[in-house]
Amino acid sequence: MSQTQKKAEPCVMVIFGATGDLTKRKLFPALYNLAKQGFLPDNFAVIGVGRQELETADFWSKISADLNEFVGAGVDKNLIKWFQDRTYYTGGDFDDDKKLFKDIKTLLAEVCEKHQIPENFFYYLATPPQLFANVSEKISKNGLAKQTNGNWRRFIYEKPFGRDLESARKLNAELLKILDESQIYRIDHYLGKETVQNILVFRFGNSIFEPIWNRNYVDHVQITVAEKLGVESRGGYYDTAGALRDMIPNHIFQLVTLTAMEPPVSFEADAVRNEQAKILHAIQPFSPEDVLHKTVRGQYGDGVMDEKTFTSYRREENVAAESNTETYAALKLSIDNWRWANVPFYVRTGKHLAEKHTEIVVQFKKAPFMLFRDTPIERLTTNRIVIHIQPDEGITLHFGAKTPGPIVNMGAVDMDFNYVEFFGETISTGYERLLFDCMIGDATLFQRADMVEASWGIVSPILDVWHAIPARDFPNYESGSWGPAEADALLAQDGRKWKNTVEK
Ligand code: BG6
Repeated sequence: MSQTQKKAEPCVMVIFGATGDLTKRKLFPALYNLAKQGFLPDNFAVIGVGRQELETADFWSKISADLNEFVGAGVDKNLIKWFQDRTYYTGGDFDDDKKLFKDIKTLLAEVCEKHQIPENFFYYLATPPQLFANVSEKISKNGLAKQTNGNWRRFIYEKPFGRDLESARKLNAELLKILDESQIYRIDHYLGKETVQNILVFRFGNSIFEPIWNRNYVDHVQITVAEKLGVESRGGYYDTAGALRDMIPNHIFQLVTLTAMEPPVSFEADAVRNEQAKILHAIQPFSPEDVLHKTVRGQYGDGVMDEKTFTSYRREENVAAESNTETYAALKLSIDNWRWANVPFYVRTGKHLAEKHTEIVVQFKKAPFMLFRDTPIERLTTNRIVIHIQPDEGITLHFGAKTPGPIVNMGAVDMDFNYVEFFGETISTGYERLLFDCMIGDATLFQRADMVEASWGIVSPILDVWHAIPARDFPNYESGSWGPAEADALLAQDGRKWKNTVEK
């Protein structure tokens, strides 16, 4: 990660799927925020590509209206004009390499000439994943993927990258036929979150945590990605994916690997990713027997959240009435290496849960001998470090302290670091850092082919067993609850308990 570079390199960003949701909600607002902070050079332009035939002026008027909505308070008029001067659009059929891709080529040449941009291009594929290979191939066929005269060509792929091990391998193989791995940026937006990046700084920039970050001191780790939202308008996609595919091999495994990895020898992309990959390879594979005992799936039923009634998953739009797709998944992972032997990593994610919160809890072992006999057993505290990823980014250290009074009694207290309180509000979509990194050629926060495949390798056996034995008890948790009872039992059988925020 280069920390000294002030501006991105001169380049053109080409967005495929430019009239879609991601472009308006995340990509343009992120570019705007980058420009506002002075990270974009003047020799920069964006070309939107979509299926609709639109004039650039019409595309721009949509984008600028959306910027007002998604950037929030007070968009800067001068900056909007700056963007307008460098935003272009071309539309057509993505399957037709005769017309659309020729038009893109012509437009790229014109834009480079007009804005004095060397031919550095990056293509953002914000399209359905079925189009990744096809569109990339057409770009390549038209001579727009080859890196010549010191100019670079990079490709960013949105998730999901494959839907199981086999499809991920196939997609990697197809892309690697036309591109070099160093040109491929597989995005996982969790890595754009400040606190996720902070895990590395927290662990390796301080000397006090690392000595206790291992099996000698840590009892277990819990990672929760809980959402209050349901599937919203994405029923069609979600019903073919499910919670496991949607969240675990990508977002949750990023959190697991950053929490568990060994210190890298440097912060160069491959040094960091090699250490992450080692963790993925050390995660114990799930046998069919393990799937029955170490995994839990759930689907939300009716329920009440914030005094509103919500209906079950099976009644969501574009979801099959008898759907067996899980909206909740919990796993007990074992990492087979010296640092983590016998320290379980429990991970869970779900929709329509009681609260939106993403956090990593590192639970330490109990003190070896308890001196304070007057403290009721439920008040005896164990130490934990909680890394809050959202909604409130920060870190909490939980420990015991003497309660005031003549008797030595213990109570649990928290020492809190809150990002906003300390550093103030930073307006970010989470995509700024990732786009910027692609523009400077830093792939540290992107997934490598081997990592994607290793992640699918872990979850594919679970998917197979779940597919072979459909759940019989769905829906098995109420909307607005903390998920199915079996997930509590998964920890209870080990004498442990999930930490839900309400009991901070
Ligand atoms: C996406 C998933 O990748 O991440 C969604 O497809 C999920 O289902 C989203 O809601 C969660 O992202 P965040 O940043 O809100 O935690």
